[in-house]
Amino acid sequence: MLDGKKSLFSGMQATGTITLGNYLGALKNWVDIDKDEYMCFYSVVDMHSITVRQNPAELRKRARSLLALYIAAGLDPEENCIYYQSHVSAHAELMWILNCFTYMGEMNRMTQFKDKSKKHPENINTGLFTYPVLMAADILLFQADVVPVGIDQMQHLEITRDIAQRMNKIYGDIFTIPEAYLGKVGTKIMSLQEPTKKMSKSDENPNAHILLLDEPDVIMRKFKKAVTDSDACIAYSEDKPGIKNLLDIYCAVTGSTVDQALAEFDSMGYGALKKRVGEAVVEELRPIQERYQDLMKNKDYINSIIKNNAEKANYYATKTLRKVQRKVGFPDRIR
Ligand code: TRP
Repeated sequence: MLDGKKSLFSGMQATGTITLGNYLGALKNWVDIDKDEYMCFYSVVDMHSITVRQNPAELRKRARSLLALYIAAGLDPEENCIYYQSHVSAHAELMWILNCFTYMGEMNRMTQFKDKSKKHPENINTGLFTYPVLMAADILLFQADVVPVGIDQMQHLEITRDIAQRMNKIYGDIFTIPEAYLGKVGTKIMSLQEPTKKMSKSDENPNAHILLLDEPDVIMRKFKKAVTDSDACIAYSEDKPGIKNLLDIYCAVTGSTVDQALAEFDSMGYGALKKRVGEAVVEELRPIQERYQDLMKNKDYINSIIKNNAEKANYYATKTLRKVQRKVGFPDRIR
């Protein structure tokens, strides 16, 4: 709890523009969260991004672009604390302390570490290894009650809870134990080229994903090329992953139920279905893209958001950090 509200924390990596999958699975649902009930922190987690090699100028650009996209997608930056992780040094400081309460064996079990090490065998750095501890620091700094995360991050949330419980046992209650946010569950959007795989911005085939800033004709073309199957029958079923994914996207974007969508597409061919889904996505993204372009032109406005929200995040983060530093036995600051 923070100032009488439940605390909610989430973040996205600043690597590449986000996909339709990130938007429908996360961002779109964040916009609907009741701001009277929750104090929300949405971080652009740029410190996590350097666990894989980044071009500095690109990283800076992408971080700003993601921050603007949060706002363009509908997160009001007065009501939600939208900030860069790297502007709040308490993340790194708390991480150090948490590192000393996390076991090698626990980190060794993390499946994302194993996957990423395979993907970047030339750069298996210790940051990649301890990445879940930084994530734990993000969450615990803000005493988050809830964390909206996808299934792929559940293991990291579990470890966060374990570390928090371990420290609470030793020092008394320092941390709120966070839970996964089970509000409206975001739709899991799959690759347009291999619909049994999650849509991912790191996919090398650009036709596999829709990026939030893709132009309308690019979006239409990617849907046109979407992989389906050879039955020519529109049905919602696990053994028709391509069609199921298109229907999921359509429903997530328009708010229709699967039954409504099936009725609408009754007796239509796959080509027509792809066109309708493409058009619905273009319409959904159009206002976001327009707001994004406006925001990116308005440098002073974005800068003021960055500054004010970093101050707000720093205020809450420092409060937790000082409490933890005192508990573990660091000397008091002399003022
Ligand atoms: N690790 C998350 C991801 O890659 C991003 C993230 C970092 C995060 N810190 C977080 C998500 C804290 C939720 C809460 O998707």
